[in-house]
Amino acid sequence: MKRWQDMSWTQEMRIQIDANLMMTPALGEKEGISEEEIEKLQPVIQTIHGQIEEEKAQERLPFLTIPFDGSLTPKIKKFIQGTKPWVENFVVLGIGGSALGAKALNKALSHPHYNLLSKTMRKGFPRHFVADNVDPDGFKALLDLLEVRKTLFNVISKSGGTAETMSQFLIIRDLIKKKLGNRKEKDHLVITTDPVQGVLRKIAEEEQFKSFEIPSLLGGRFSVLSAVGLLPAAICGIDIEELQAGAREMAGRCLKPSIWENPAYWCACLSFLSYKQMKKNIRVIMPYGDALRGMGEWFCQLWAESLGKRYTVKGREVWNGQTPVTALGATDQHSQLQLYMEGPGDKVFSFIRIRNYAGLIPLPKLYPKVEELAYLGGHSLNRLIQTEMEATRLALARNGRPSLTITLPKINPFTIGQLILLWELETLVCGRLMGINPLNQPGVEEGKILTYALLGRKGFEKEGKDGESLSKDNKKYIQ
Ligand code: PA5
Repeated sequence: MKRWQDMSWTQEMRIQIDANLMMTPALGEKEGISEEEIEKLQPVIQTIHGQIEEEKAQERLPFLTIPFDGSLTPKIKKFIQGTKPWVENFVVLGIGGSALGAKALNKALSHPHYNLLSKTMRKGFPRHFVADNVDPDGFKALLDLLEVRKTLFNVISKSGGTAETMSQFLIIRDLIKKKLGNRKEKDHLVITTDPVQGVLRKIAEEEQFKSFEIPSLLGGRFSVLSAVGLLPAAICGIDIEELQAGAREMAGRCLKPSIWENPAYWCACLSFLSYKQMKKNIRVIMPYGDALRGMGEWFCQLWAESLGKRYTVKGREVWNGQTPVTALGATDQHSQLQLYMEGPGDKVFSFIRIRNYAGLIPLPKLYPKVEELAYLGGHSLNRLIQTEMEATRLALARNGRPSLTITLPKINPFTIGQLILLWELETLVCGRLMGINPLNQPGVEEGKILTYALLGRKGFEKEGKDGESLSKDNKKYIQ
């Protein structure tokens, strides 16, 4: 039996959401949210819940249903089996939602210095890289490190047309051909893309590359639990079945329409009220653990791209969105906290607490007579970081700064799976409360289109002309 099949273990590993420091009893009438305000949202949540249930049944919300798709992990595992003997480096070529999930999972669930470990310490799993930029220096530096003969590249693009990813694809394809010849090309590239649309799917089919599908209605930032995130995770030894089980656990906790009995609806309502009513334009995610920095970055994209919308679904111009920021505890207490404590009261905080870190590092009692050090001796780094988090959230609350605390009993695939699903569903529901479409990204598309136009792609001539009119510089403004 796997541990995630054991009810008492899953119970122990449930993540917990504590919003006490957002509510009126702790923060007072001016800064806190009242139960009444939450209750007022129940009827609209009821409607959103009905829509979600309907869309789920029609398979129009794949991020909620993929954790229940038992067919994906065996396919991934079978593919990985074939790569085991020779792959020493695994490289994701992708950007945005096609890269951040893979990065976050690796950071959260692999050794903090995974790529520096020996092959034995990596248990034979390959080194892991995510090339999510087209900075020529960065890309060249990565290529300098890799022996192509021992490298597997995973091109990930939902649309199959993103200029950054497709450029990387062109470079890598050419490189493989030059280094290894036509015959080997197929072994070194695996494609993850839409099942039908896009040029990458066409290439995969016509040229018979191995490929995985991203469900048609699954947008990049919601795709981490599809092959987009699961293949890069599994190839480095992360237990993707446990990850999916964690997501299912959270999905199971989010079935009821009542805000008081549904963690994602609870979080969505608090976020919505903090933005609309309390005018908190900035949301700061503060995980207290290096491993969760990538999850913070992944969340930032999810929140920014989903909620940052000019128009409501009804076409009203609103310029909506709450700016997400990641700050790492305790490190960023010494870079950003001063602003958070005494700067504008336009922020709401989400602390991520780790109840049990993987290791315990005691602090030696070396200077019992030196006051400045004696109080530390006998404690542990674990106690120190947890105390710092507690002190920070209480100090913020004392200044009327609201915060939510999510506690992970431990960092493992089961708790990370829960967190992913919680944040995805919270984002969807918050977007719907705001009246915008959280699942599209017209602003990103606009930038993509202008890039095509400026690079002379056929069919985009008009957009190129529009862009040129803005780039006429006045020398007076340039020093
Ligand atoms: O979340 C999104 O939809 C975007 O961030 C995309 O993931 C990103 O633009 C990359 O797109 P694609 O996967 O089509 O290459």
